Formats: sequence, structure tokens, C-alpha cells
Amino acid sequence: MGYKTKDWRNSMRVTVDYNYMMAKSLGEKGIKDTELRRTKELAEQAFNYVTDNRGKDELFMGWTELPYNQDEIVADILATAKQVRKKFKYFVVLGIGGSALGPSMVFNALKHLHYNELKDKKRGGPKFYVEDNVDPVRMADLLDIIEPDKTCFNVISKSGATSETMAQFLIIADILEKQGLSLAEHMIFTTDANRGNLIKIDNKYGGKIKKYVLPDGVGGRFSELCPVGLLPAAVLGIDIKGLLAGAAYMDNLCSKSNIAKNPALACAVLQYITMKQGKNIHVLMPYCDNLKLLADWYCQLWAESLGKAVDLNGKPVNTGTTPVKSLGVTDQHSQVQLYIEGPYDKVITFISVSNYATQTPIPHGCDDIPDVGFLGGHTMQELIQAENKATAYALMRAGRMNYTINLPEVNAFTLGQIMYMLELQTAYAGAMLGIDTFNQPGVENGKIATFALLGKKGYEAQKAEMDAAPALEDKYIV
Ligand code: PA5
Repeated sequence: MGYKTKDWRNSMRVTVDYNYMMAKSLGEKGIKDTELRRTKELAEQAFNYVTDNRGKDELFMGWTELPYNQDEIVADILATAKQVRKKFKYFVVLGIGGSALGPSMVFNALKHLHYNELKDKKRGGPKFYVEDNVDPVRMADLLDIIEPDKTCFNVISKSGATSETMAQFLIIADILEKQGLSLAEHMIFTTDANRGNLIKIDNKYGGKIKKYVLPDGVGGRFSELCPVGLLPAAVLGIDIKGLLAGAAYMDNLCSKSNIAKNPALACAVLQYITMKQGKNIHVLMPYCDNLKLLADWYCQLWAESLGKAVDLNGKPVNTGTTPVKSLGVTDQHSQVQLYIEGPYDKVITFISVSNYATQTPIPHGCDDIPDVGFLGGHTMQELIQAENKATAYALMRAGRMNYTINLPEVNAFTLGQIMYMLELQTAYAGAMLGIDTFNQPGVENGKIATFALLGKKGYEAQKAEMDAAPALEDKYIV
């Protein structure tokens, strides 16, 4: 691995501390070592399933290989990003789900929290927006602040058939054309190599639109480390080689089937055991504003992957736990009361950071008012870390399971590690549950119903079925 020194990489290792999940801390409410041992065989089977099927496109396991073999693509992306940074004032991602949550998360994690508000020189690159909704007000408001002639639009869609993304595309294409601007100059497509409507659209424009490939065996929610996420990150000046190196480093840390040596497998086993105990809510609570959107990204990864009606044999199972995003310390003043005293139906995963990008000292003042004075002389880093530890401890004392993923600092290398770890954890958990982790039939059903409602050709039968559904009754509308 040619990324910085070995010592540096090891100093940036992401770790998992699950003491507060175990009986030793929680007594009767915790997991016993014997329970971990009972799950050993299933965990090994899940590990072997994921390992044996690495890179298999037909199983949508292509994402496992993204940390490797992308040198040419990375070089191309860096060259394009350089041009985009030079030429454009705005970079807008049009996409939804897996095509939007990853780029938003990496932007949030690795750029200034008020990036778009920074002065041009300090920002150093285009203003950045991810449009992942079809709220008409949001689109109108975006159009109020960008200048289309100074904007590069990155349309990200594997299928090119996602109504939300394609509606956005139509609106933007119309504006560009009306302003006499060329699509080839102002758009970049990230899509399937051969299939899909974006390829057809590009053909209409003589194949002149710059395209990046969303590889065959990579589903949307596992796509952040391919051009879906790498191009927007590179345009923002983010170290994309660092992201990939971090993912490769974590892949190596997870190369054993023993949970004591594989952090992703350890987390999957903890989630599996608690899921079987009926703990149906899984809270992800980073103590770091830069990781706020990691929780959004993770919610999709976990929910869409594990929320399944049937197992691989077609047997009804209705699996999954509900992921909840939370932010420390903000949500200590909103949700933590429920987590500490409410039903025993949750597992809390904290994400802690050892060294924030800045410490921000708290000056002395009001020494005669003890409630305020004690804060002086500390730093905001000390305060957030103390609150993080205190909340984990208070939960443990109240018999509530929680574990902590620690990042030495937030940088491209550690972000690559945690992303890959959460992806592997999800794949292991899906294998333990015996489900298809990589499909999303529920989402597809919703897409089909939308097509029917908007009169898309070929969906007449679904429309008829929806029309025939029992009529809504006024008495149930208040
Ligand atoms: O994870 C997934 O596969 C989904 O969230 C998709 O990313 C989302 O539905 C968008 O699909 P597409 O890339 O085809 O526009």
C-alpha cells in the first residue's frame, strides 16, 4: 500500500469498543461470552459467504473490490475534477438514494461545515449542492442561487429510470438548451456502462457527454467508492486516494473470521444477537458534526439491505432493525432521555473522535458562578469527549447496550475505513440472516406505483389495480 507510512496508517486505525454490550458491564442485560461463542459458527459461515463471493457481479458483490484496481479511473477523475474546479462556480449532483447520500456524506465529513459560504479563495473549488428530492420548492430555490452557465451538473443514476433524478435532468436540460448552453459542456453522467437511459440520452447528443461507469456489480448504496462518490469528492478537492487506501486498510483488518480480529464481523454479530433478542432499533450517534451525514448514509445502507420480507429460500422472515440517526451532543437534549429510560429495544452505536480538527479553547470567565466557571480552561474537544463518554457510561449504568466506533481523527483515510467497515458489517449481517442483502424489492414497488400514477406506458395494469383499491372514506379523514 503506497499511502503514507505504515506507522501513520496504524496510528489512524478505526477501532470498535463493545465492552458496554457485554454481561461484564451490564450484568443480566448484557451479552455473555457463551452467547458470542454460540454465534461463532454462524459468523464464520457469514464471513466465508462474503469472502467466497467477493467481487461477484452477479451477486452484487462488486463493491468489495472498489478499494483496488481503480488507478486508471482515479487518474481520469482527477483530471476531470481539475477542469471542473477551474471552469465552474457550482457543482450540482442530481441523484437520489445511493447516488446522493454518499456524496453528501463525504462532503459533510471532509469539507468545512460552512463550505458554500466561504469566500471563493478560501473555498478553492465550486459551491456544492446535492439535489436528492423532487420537492418543487427546493428545485426552484436552487435555481434562484446557481447560474446555469457557470454550473456543472453530475447526473448520477445507474438505471437512468429513477423518476426523481430524471425529472431533475429534464428541468436542467431544458434550462441549458433554452440558454443556448451545451449539455456536453455542462453535464457529466455517472451510470451503467451499457444499459440505462443516460446512455440513450448521451447517444442523442452524439456521445459527447462525459460519462463515468457505475460498475455492474455495485448497487447504489454500496457505490460511494466508485465514480458515484469519487468524482464529486475529487471536484471538492478531497483526497480520493486516501478514501480508497482507508477502505483497503479496513478490508485487511477484516480478513479473519474471528470476531476478536475482525471489527466489521464483531459489529455484525452484536447486531445479530441483539436483533434476535428483539432489540429492533439501532441508533447511530456520531459525536461530530462532520459525521452527521454518515448516519444518514448508514441508515440507507442498513435499512435497504436488511429490511427484507423473505430469506434466500423464499421463506417469510421480515428481517431488519430500524436505524435511527442521532447527533451527539445535540440529541442528548432530545432523544437520550428515551434511550436511557424508555423500552429496552435499542442498541446505540457511538462514533467518537480522538482528535478533532481543532480544539477550540473555552476561556475563563464567570468564575464566581460555579455552573459556568468550571468550563473555563477546558476545550470544546474535552467537553464533547466528556459528554460522549458520560452518555455511554450513563446508558451502561441504566442497563442499555451501546458500543463505540472510534476514529483517531476525521480524514479521508479514516472515513474510507469506517465506510468500508459498515458496508462489510451489513454484508455479514445479511449473510447471517440468510437474506439477499443487495436487492430492494420494496423500493422497486414504490417506483412502479409512481409510474402507474403518472401514466407511464406499460404500467396500465398497475394503474387499474390501484384504481380498484377500496375507495378512501370521508369518515376516516379528520
Ligand atoms: O441503493 C440503491 O440501489 C438505491 O438507493 C438507488 O441508488 C436509488 O434507487 C437510485 O437508483 P438509480 O441509481 O438507478 O437512479
